Amino acid sequence: MSPRGKLKLVVLISGRGTNLTALAQACRDERLEAEIVLVISDQSQASGLDGARNLGLPTAVIEAKEFADRALFEAALAQAIDKNGAELLLLAGFMRILSAEFVQRYAGRVLNIHPSLLPKYKGLHTHRRVLESAEREHGVSVHFVTGELDGGPVICQARVPVYPGDTEQALAARVLLQEHRIYPMVVGLIAAGRLALSGTRILLDGRVLQAPLSEDAPHEKDLQRRG
Ligand code: GRF
Repeated sequence: MSPRGKLKLVVLISGRGTNLTALAQACRDERLEAEIVLVISDQSQASGLDGARNLGLPTAVIEAKEFADRALFEAALAQAIDKNGAELLLLAGFMRILSAEFVQRYAGRVLNIHPSLLPKYKGLHTHRRVLESAEREHGVSVHFVTGELDGGPVICQARVPVYPGDTEQALAARVLLQEHRIYPMVVGLIAAGRLALSGTRILLDGRVLQAPLSEDAPHEKDLQRRG
């Protein structure tokens, strides 16, 4: 990581890219000392690519179907990432599982945002599964990526309530608002040199983080106090 200057980010997307936009805006507003040097999509039709171009960000499309196997696809990804001097990789709705070898190559330098309170609800369709299980709370996690799917050390979580009669869409929207808040915040801590992965532990200001940072929205804390 650069001792001076802005942290170089590569953001990997597959879809609409609202987290990408939130990150880009935080960079632009100088809320974090970072710059997005490349946006990579594994889907040429991803609408997030349009958003990235509108923000003036460099983009690349690297589609797995163009390569004979995953190793070659990941080699192309790595080449694009390394060419741009990326220091931190941010998965933001990137719908492809990266191999343990790829993750190891960038150990401690890959983050993901996952729409659940990990370790609960790893994988897909989290909002639907939360509603089916009649949970009373749900949320989002930002975590370091390891070889285990949605399984790396969790840095930060934000909780939201689940209301009676919630639809999947309503719940997803409530979670997404928190995603846009906490992803830039976590990247900001890393850019400031305050947070890092050391082995399997997260260090914040030189101390081992014992539990994920909790960044619940204020009104949710109020609800909990009353409840
Ligand atoms: C988000 O819900 C994120 O948590 C998950 O994929 C979704 C991406 O949304 N990993 P967007 O493309 O950033 O709008």
